[in-house]
Amino acid sequence: MAFLNDNYLKLKAGYLFPEIGRRVKAFCDANPEAAKKLIRCGIGDVTEPLPAAVIAALHKAVDEMASRETFKGYGPEQGYEWLRHAIAQNDFRDKGLDMANDEIFISDGSKCDCGAILDILGGKNKIAISDPVYPVYVDTNVMVGHTGEANDAGAYAKLVYLPCKPGNGFIPEPPKKHVDVIYLCSPNNPTGAAATREQLEAWVKYALEHKSVILFDAAYEAYITEPGMPHSIYEISGARDCAIEFRSFSKNGGFTGTRCAFTVVPKSLNAYTRSGEAKPLHPLWARRQTTKFNGVSYIVQRAAEALYSPEGKMQVAELIKHYLGNAEVLRKGAKKAGLKVFGGVNAPYIWVRTPKGATSWQAFDKILADANVVITPGSGFGSKGEGYFRISAFNSRANAEEVARRLQELKW
Ligand code: MLT
Repeated sequence: MAFLNDNYLKLKAGYLFPEIGRRVKAFCDANPEAAKKLIRCGIGDVTEPLPAAVIAALHKAVDEMASRETFKGYGPEQGYEWLRHAIAQNDFRDKGLDMANDEIFISDGSKCDCGAILDILGGKNKIAISDPVYPVYVDTNVMVGHTGEANDAGAYAKLVYLPCKPGNGFIPEPPKKHVDVIYLCSPNNPTGAAATREQLEAWVKYALEHKSVILFDAAYEAYITEPGMPHSIYEISGARDCAIEFRSFSKNGGFTGTRCAFTVVPKSLNAYTRSGEAKPLHPLWARRQTTKFNGVSYIVQRAAEALYSPEGKMQVAELIKHYLGNAEVLRKGAKKAGLKVFGGVNAPYIWVRTPKGATSWQAFDKILADANVVITPGSGFGSKGEGYFRISAFNSRANAEEVARRLQELKW
């Protein structure tokens, strides 16, 4: 008899996005005419083509694979040195931040690494997550058995939920009690809020005092427009001793389908053995990756490297400008529709209060049925997301404008 992992049975329904997909498909099957007008602002998936510099690098790398002299087989599991160098140099050292090339680990996605990182953390950690939250942080902890069962509101026993509300700018504050591992996401998915320097300083102070580890998801870093906002947790003094940072090329370079990201594990970051001995996490992550991961393809790493070329940087800036332009159109449209709107300034997500006390799923159904627009119900991100919905700005400008128009026509 083979036993299954019982923890999977604790997971609530499906992962949020497949559940949205199921509802949208049912609606489209039942309403083929409305389906033709459907605009998807649900999952935060990029819509614009890859930058020209990336396409050129991809073609070149493919050609290299065609000749024995330049062909590449297995690459280094942690990523090619030239890409690790380009990242450490451009994203950190050029900005005055201390970073060694081998503290950068190339991966196929932040989501994957956010889950995989639990391999090197112990099972007894008290885990803190924001509410609302990117569901991956919660579900991966459920899967490895770090939680108890979920209650009716979807909150799991043993997790510490940190509420994010308008009152704290949707950025959680350090708790009064002790936690060992803290997930922070800034700019935030789903609320579109970005943490200020003071807010991150408070977290780094807490983590150093409590010997905790911060798992800092900065996948949307490129969307920060307000001056003075930190783009990396390592801009905060002391963070190299308490934080791992996850970055992605998905939302800046449009790599959601191309797959490349990186995780930063500073060598000075320690966690503790059962007997309380401090040990660096860096060699554990290197060991984990070399055992369980075969690296990102050579072709894709060359594509990622091209994002750091002068043309690549300009083309990424254009993409960000495009999506943030959409965000502005959507923010204005939702405001004109009389909705209360947050986010969308330092992030590609707009976080909207549902009108007239509608639940998040009621708002989802109404917007789908009457405006033929797919949004993401806030309650899918946690109980404190109830009463909100998220609009993704990843779309064409024409679609963003059309969604803004349809929102204003909606009668609640
Ligand atoms: C989202 O819509 O929240 C994102 O697409 C999720 C992700 O990046 O995995």
